[in-house]
Amino acid sequence: MDFKLSEQENLVREMTRDFAQQVLAPLARQHDKDETIGPDVFKQLSELGLMGMTIGEEYGGAGMGNMELAIALDELNQGCASVGVTVSVHNSLLGSPITKWGTDAQKTEWLPRLATGELLGAYCLTEPNAGSDAAAVATSAVRDGDDWIINGTKIFVTNGEWAGLCLVYCRTDTSVSNAKGISAFLVPMSAEGASVGKKEKKTGIRGSSTTEIIFENVRVPASALLGEVNAGFKIAMDTLDGGRIGIASQAVGIGQACLDASIKYAGEREQFGRPLSAFQAIQFKIADMSTRLEAARLLVRKAAWLRDNQMSCTQAAAQAKLSASLTANFCADECLQIHGGAGYTDDFQVERLFRDARITEIYEGATDIQRIVISRNLLG
Ligand code: CAA
Repeated sequence: MDFKLSEQENLVREMTRDFAQQVLAPLARQHDKDETIGPDVFKQLSELGLMGMTIGEEYGGAGMGNMELAIALDELNQGCASVGVTVSVHNSLLGSPITKWGTDAQKTEWLPRLATGELLGAYCLTEPNAGSDAAAVATSAVRDGDDWIINGTKIFVTNGEWAGLCLVYCRTDTSVSNAKGISAFLVPMSAEGASVGKKEKKTGIRGSSTTEIIFENVRVPASALLGEVNAGFKIAMDTLDGGRIGIASQAVGIGQACLDASIKYAGEREQFGRPLSAFQAIQFKIADMSTRLEAARLLVRKAAWLRDNQMSCTQAAAQAKLSASLTANFCADECLQIHGGAGYTDDFQVERLFRDARITEIYEGATDIQRIVISRNLLG
């Protein structure tokens, strides 16, 4: 077993670490306050090749795997989790499924523009009545000659405001209300009838865009169908296996930022005539944070390795996300406790990390959904 990163993985880590620490970290507070990310950040993400990490080189991407993506997301999220989720969703929930399930024509049409960041991707699965129960999707796609007509509203869509291309899950067989009657469509936001609805005001990751996306009689050609008719739920779940590795990486990144902030503050702040780091109660917190983070990071890398080697990663991805999201929230809580009253103000970034960490236990499958996936795998 080799725990050493490859030369390429190290280069990705160094490049994303520099960008995260020098560019993103100083902007994170502004992103949170303004509830947006500036165009200059998107430009730099594109220039660094971070928008097409897993897209093949023949389509203008970096041709890398989930391991490199996980390493990059770990670093980016240490700088700014709002940027981190934007990049994660774009790569793992759009670029990856088109690469895996798309026809040559679909790849040629969409991947080059996703790889350059000209188009940002969004994943439209969740609906008011289809959250954890994703198979309850009601947005409809009805055949009309060679076309499909899409109607419905998707909610909590990451990148909603900025999206150029959506992967939309629709019910194509109304005779069933379960997973078997769902298909996946590639819908450009330029299509007539596609619009952005309400923008959510969130507790954390406020710089990222989370909106409704509304489809009103949106006509798409037959070539917009990704995969087979009524086989979209498997694409949704398989894609989320990859997405969960991305969110687990995000959680590890946020947790690492909490650990780093804790070590720094514990070395600077003095009480009872000694720095906080001299107290064993604080030392033990630091030890626990570091140990849990290291374990979560290894689970993330195992899941990414399995996916890159075409092995089933469903259980490993769920375990990585479960462990990493709980760890991120544990680290954020301990970090705030170490900072005391100061950490509860916005003088320090801890309060933002505390808010940002919380979502990792919710999106791309809540904590108990990960437990369902893991236990079903073990118990049948
Ligand atoms: N890969 C491939 N196929 C899979 C699969 C996977 N990982 N998981 C399930 N399937 C297949 C099953 O084999 C089954 O196929 P067959 O009928 O042919 O056997 C079919 O899909 C249905 O599977 P289930 O019976 O397990 O489906 P279920 O209705 O019981 O749901 C669930 C399972 C795990 C609860 C699922 O609904 C789920 O993951 N829910 C959470 C939804 C979620 O994660 N939403 C995230 C929204 S996107 C988001 O947050 C992105 C963002 O913007 C940040």
